[in-house]
Amino acid sequence: MKILVTGGTGYIGSHTLVDLLENEFDVVSIDNGMNSEVSVLDAVRQITGRQLTHYAIDLCDKDKVDEIFAKENFDGVVHFAALKSVSESMSQPFLYFRNNLNSLLNTFEAAKLYGVKAFIFSSSCTVYGNVSESPVDENTPWQEAASVYGRTKQMGEKIISHCSSETTMQSIILRYFNPAGAHSSGLMGESPKNMAQNLVPVITETAIGKRPTMKVFGTDYPTRDGSCIRDFIHVCDLAAAHTLALHHLLQHKQKDKIDVFNLGMGEGVSVLEAIKAFIGVTGQNFSYEMAPRRDGDVTAIYSNYSKARQILGWQPKLTIRDIMHSAWQWEVNRTKKQ
Ligand code: WQD
Repeated sequence: MKILVTGGTGYIGSHTLVDLLENEFDVVSIDNGMNSEVSVLDAVRQITGRQLTHYAIDLCDKDKVDEIFAKENFDGVVHFAALKSVSESMSQPFLYFRNNLNSLLNTFEAAKLYGVKAFIFSSSCTVYGNVSESPVDENTPWQEAASVYGRTKQMGEKIISHCSSETTMQSIILRYFNPAGAHSSGLMGESPKNMAQNLVPVITETAIGKRPTMKVFGTDYPTRDGSCIRDFIHVCDLAAAHTLALHHLLQHKQKDKIDVFNLGMGEGVSVLEAIKAFIGVTGQNFSYEMAPRRDGDVTAIYSNYSKARQILGWQPKLTIRDIMHSAWQWEVNRTKKQ
């Protein structure tokens, strides 16, 4: 079976390439390199011992997308490609709406046209907005998206729902909570081309000295320690969920046209608790300061992932300690290479 992974040189995309290759799929990657390095594919090949095809094109170029679909004849598509910084989306709304929606529209339309059987969409817990309580399950009503990024994911899910008629293609929407951590080999991990905005890479970059200090955005939230609460899920556990979702569709186990699954650890960890977990696991202390809240942040959100466990047979195996240990190992290794 041949699978297209869009955003294949990105953080979750590259880890999913590894999982798919290790599960005997043939894979093709598309990525325009806007926020990732193509060199990550060397690590993918080294870890798996397998080859893959990569196209360095922009998914917003419809003609180029159609050309690849006509040539490659995919059985399934995993669509990761998107810009994903909550804070950056607030300062660059046109970039986020144009990039995230046009790339989805081109990819989904081509998949329908060229007979793809299974479409997996990378969505996010940000579709739930600023929920009043957690855990959230897949039926939790959506609030207003707290960020442009979250709005592009809400719109993406609606596009898939609306455009799935008149096609035999089936879709699964995966709502990630906070992806973090790195591959156990230490050969790949979160390495955005642009300045990291996510908490865990900011922690590791501060701990290794790339940043003099970091900010805790808000300690006056109505939470147990005043900082925001999130559900950190190891990127390798996330990758495994995509392989299970593809098997579920390609083995015709899904009766509905579309289904949706939360992917998280099912427990909340605060920003301050995450910092303490990092220090506890690595022994690396570092400077951090309390700062005002960040625009676009939700107070607290964590998942109920029992639907993915029951239907996909998915179970996260790695903990916040594994996340911090692997993220630190990756930061040390990538700094040595620089
Ligand atoms: C987490 C918390 C920050 C940096 C992420 C992904 C998004 C989506 C949802 C998958 C917030 C705080 C951060 C810093 C801090 N995932 N923080 N200092 O915003 O929850 O969104 O999960 O689709 O793609 O980005 O993640 O790591 O940016 O923030 O205090 O230097 O850490 O305020 O409370 P977020 P994040």
